[in-house]
Amino acid sequence: MTVNVLFIAAESEPFIKIGGLGDVAGALPAAIHRIAEKQPAAYPIDIRVALPYYRAIKEKGFPVKFLGEFNVPKKETAIPCQVYLFADGEFPVYFLDGAPIAESAQVYSLNTSDDGDKFVFFSSAALRLADFLNWKIDILHANDWHTATAIYALKNSLISSPQLSRTKTVHSLHNLPFMGYGIQQSLSDYGLPPSQNPTLPEWARHVPLPLGLLHADKIIAVSPHYAKEILTPQFGCGLEDFLATRTQALTGIINGLDIDLWNPETNPHIQQNFTADSLSRRLVNKRHLQTKFQLPKNDRVPVMTLISRMDPQKGIDIALKGLEYCQDLDWQAVILGTGTPEVEAQARELETRFPDRVRAIIDFDNKLAHQLYAGADLFLMPSRYEPCGLSQMISMRYGCIPVARKTGGLADTIHSVSGSVNGGTGFLFVEPYPSAFAGAVKRAIRYYHKPELWEIIQRNGMKIDFSWESSAKKYIEIYLALAKTPRAADEA
Ligand code: GLC
Repeated sequence: MTVNVLFIAAESEPFIKIGGLGDVAGALPAAIHRIAEKQPAAYPIDIRVALPYYRAIKEKGFPVKFLGEFNVPKKETAIPCQVYLFADGEFPVYFLDGAPIAESAQVYSLNTSDDGDKFVFFSSAALRLADFLNWKIDILHANDWHTATAIYALKNSLISSPQLSRTKTVHSLHNLPFMGYGIQQSLSDYGLPPSQNPTLPEWARHVPLPLGLLHADKIIAVSPHYAKEILTPQFGCGLEDFLATRTQALTGIINGLDIDLWNPETNPHIQQNFTADSLSRRLVNKRHLQTKFQLPKNDRVPVMTLISRMDPQKGIDIALKGLEYCQDLDWQAVILGTGTPEVEAQARELETRFPDRVRAIIDFDNKLAHQLYAGADLFLMPSRYEPCGLSQMISMRYGCIPVARKTGGLADTIHSVSGSVNGGTGFLFVEPYPSAFAGAVKRAIRYYHKPELWEIIQRNGMKIDFSWESSAKKYIEIYLALAKTPRAADEA
């Protein structure tokens, strides 16, 4: 029996990408589809994706086929939803359009309440695809707060359809603090009352993310470490006690990386391609960086890089301050990213203070990012929390050793060098303070000056399989197991 999976998200590569969710919602369904296609007997999955048909997607001109229209009830009226199919897909990707989506200029507004209508409409419309396509949904896989409402709507029996009578739900958690607070009006407009469930704190009973987490048959955090952290007050955002009631359903699966896109052997953006067996060639890329940024040309000075969105989650301030504590050592640093004005200003300030060592590039520049991974020696990732994180995997694959905070997916993917380099792939620090960060940088630089050991660390990281294959199989196992178990209501 084929298990039908509808995967819904607010963003997905290559159609639209704002952050890490877009990477995952692009790569994971594609990986699942490929595995199912290769081994249909072992992995009988029909996975399909639905996305809001944002203006930005339309403008990119992807070829689509109009499939038709249905109505989504809202208060006393109904809002038409148009369904388009991406015409060039290896598997079906549906774009859903309608006034709340068409009227919205951006994927995410600064004010969450402005996004309520769009995402509640989309979530509700996505469920109605089952009837529209005459396609039974066995598994509804929602991501983050934007699509959590679909799980809540299903459990609230908002839509009655034989195609949904046995649907199980999976909720992927990419970022707990973003819960969709302040959209209760939209929920109620689309027929969804607040929950009465006493296990949820009162403030959370009309907030989409907790409502999804309450009802999902399976909650998947994007790393095993994050799945544990969210049960603590430090990372649980006030939901830790509630989440403790859901540990049976909660698990963590690490994200993968698109290893074809991020391949130092073939990447077209970098000066010199290289592999774990030709590491010495990497030096060409490092020299290129020093020339490009007019930094002193010196092969033996470690070049650090930090490539990130500059917001509080990423802890850039911790690194900027921490670098000041490392002044007595020789190093260079290139910082690339955009974000909050304060952090951007701090980065510029560091460049002004250390004109012969620091460059702050306040920009989003994909090509430069590739060149930095390929040429820098150390990658800085001081995140306050990091559900999974992608750049540490990229950096290890490029022989650029991460110095990172021991949290979430960073703790799962980086093996800290301690005592010996055996299996070590980077340097972790525990407390989110500049002094702890500086301690790890200094440790790393000590190893950097022992080239034989440094190369072992580089190769350890480059040899790790970061592909989606094994994680995608874990998702499939979950789908198959869920599809076999009766729904709680069916058991009664
Ligand atoms: C969010 C998290 C990040 C994770 C990504 C994809 O952006 O902050 O850690 O890698 O989602 O799951």
